[in-house]
Amino acid sequence: MKTSDNFAKRLQKHHDELRWLYMELYDNDSMFAELCDQMHAYYLARDRKMKALDQKREKAPAWFRGKDMLGMMLYIDNFAGTIQGLQKKLPYLESCHVNYIHLMPFLDSPEGRSDGGYAVADFRKVRPDLGSMDDLAKLSEECHERGISLCMDFVMNHTSEDHEWARRARQGEGEYMSRYFFYDNYDIPARYEETIPQVFPTTAPGNFTWLAENGHYVMTTFYPYQWDLNYANPRVFNEMMYNFLYLANQGMDIIRIDAVPYIWKELGTQCRNLQQVHTIVRMMRMIGEIVCPGVVLLGEVVMEPEKVVPYFGTVEKPECHMLYNVTTMATTWNCVATRDVRLLKMQMNVVNSLPKKYTFLNYLRCHDDIGWGLDFGTLQTWGMEEVAHKKYLNDYFTGNYPGSVSRGELYNDDPRLGDARFCGTTASMCGVESAGFEQDQQKMQEAIRMDIMLHAYMLTQSGIPMLYSGDEVGQVNDYTYKQEPGKAVDSRYIHRGRFQWDLAAECEDTETVAGQIFQALGQLVTIRRREKVFDADADCLVADAGDDAVLCLIRTKGKEQMMGLFNFHDRERNVAVEQDGIWQDMLHGNVQDVQDITLPGHGFVWLKKKP
Ligand code: GLC
Repeated sequence: MKTSDNFAKRLQKHHDELRWLYMELYDNDSMFAELCDQMHAYYLARDRKMKALDQKREKAPAWFRGKDMLGMMLYIDNFAGTIQGLQKKLPYLESCHVNYIHLMPFLDSPEGRSDGGYAVADFRKVRPDLGSMDDLAKLSEECHERGISLCMDFVMNHTSEDHEWARRARQGEGEYMSRYFFYDNYDIPARYEETIPQVFPTTAPGNFTWLAENGHYVMTTFYPYQWDLNYANPRVFNEMMYNFLYLANQGMDIIRIDAVPYIWKELGTQCRNLQQVHTIVRMMRMIGEIVCPGVVLLGEVVMEPEKVVPYFGTVEKPECHMLYNVTTMATTWNCVATRDVRLLKMQMNVVNSLPKKYTFLNYLRCHDDIGWGLDFGTLQTWGMEEVAHKKYLNDYFTGNYPGSVSRGELYNDDPRLGDARFCGTTASMCGVESAGFEQDQQKMQEAIRMDIMLHAYMLTQSGIPMLYSGDEVGQVNDYTYKQEPGKAVDSRYIHRGRFQWDLAAECEDTETVAGQIFQALGQLVTIRRREKVFDADADCLVADAGDDAVLCLIRTKGKEQMMGLFNFHDRERNVAVEQDGIWQDMLHGNVQDVQDITLPGHGFVWLKKKP
């Protein structure tokens, strides 16, 4: 079969639905025809090897959700300086068992006004200090040879104020002004402000920015230098889809669609999760399936579960392939601070009851702050009021609560709402930083135990585990951002420090903190890859361990079963699980009586039922 036939076949499959949705939003035949022509052009430009991979993946559409997947997210400069430097470090990443690398934003972005790269000035140019598109293509080629997938961000809600469109809009060119939201007086912005919440209430208050030289307000939901794109304009949609396809053609396997709930704006609404957003994501999914079906969409929807799940679309009309398991992450840390897993059990029941095709990305920490998006309705029935409880969590994790070992900083503290979020690395939150500072060996062992327990729990969940670079060696907070002018106000940089290669050098030495964490994670990942019970389609259920401080998860695949018990208390707990059979420790091999299990403070066990 000629390869163009593939394109024709895929286009035919999706054409009617794609056209229908496009017309619904834009009612514009010539722009739709242009989109189809461009899809074909990007298809023709796609590398032969990538097309072969597309075909392979079309035949095995679950390729990205196997139990062998282990992700790591990292900043190229922090980790290895440049893309070429990163390529030389692939063996280290392989020693971490990582086969999915999320390269944090690396496209051209103005220094000091970049929001960590999330203000893109040119979607087709790599930040010069990191390398070039050519370097990226070489990296992708080597990654594919090694069986590693690459992920990058597609920042589609906004561009940098330095993007060519923004520059021309600022100069008053109507064509480009219409790609953003421009207003010559504050009437409409004022009406928007009545209903749009604030993303960065302290570091970037308000949703509009006044451009004095141009005499207009422009919509800027995030930072003033990030101008919101107007997706009601079909030119914006088409051009952004061309950028998406261009990036996919650079050899990306996973595209993270950044801040996607925000992309459609409508007066009188919160401008989040509007129906048109789903139409756009659905169209994007089809465009991807037509041109580059090997590419997976990862949606960034940092919202409560009811808002997240619709981004999977339906089984017939899927939208994103993967989504962040954000509420589970926040709930996990809540349970650490309260030593009470009841909320986590409820949250896991919600996630576990979803169709198995819905793939979540599980993580403990990422590059962003932790927002306390918890089920406060339930917490309230247990006597925890929202504002007071958030204050407790923030006091706890900043180390300002008696007995807390965590260290970190608040983020966008909004005193009106008592709504601060939190920043810090996993290791610092587990006490590695404070124990190191106090040179307290016993506390250090407790911190390491908790760090490993949380990773084991993450690896037990269904979905794709994602490590945050540095966590594999217990890297702690980095306070040097305070000396850098463009970063000092944004405390998220506390957990975006330079990767500490001196810790990585200790990863074989189990006398060191880094070595203990690194080796333990390696062992867990190896077991996870080997055992069928960790298959993506295994059942995962919450069981009762008779103790609100201990989480019990049971995974079942066919006749095989494993049980994970995780102690969220800092004291030793003795628990009993109502399960028959003989259970063997998956790490140490000993048989364990599940009616009588003693877990040290923040300890865990992985048990497998003997056949
Ligand atoms: C996403 C990113 C965050 C960034 C924001 C604006 O939420 O994760 O880091 O600030 O988008 O682009």
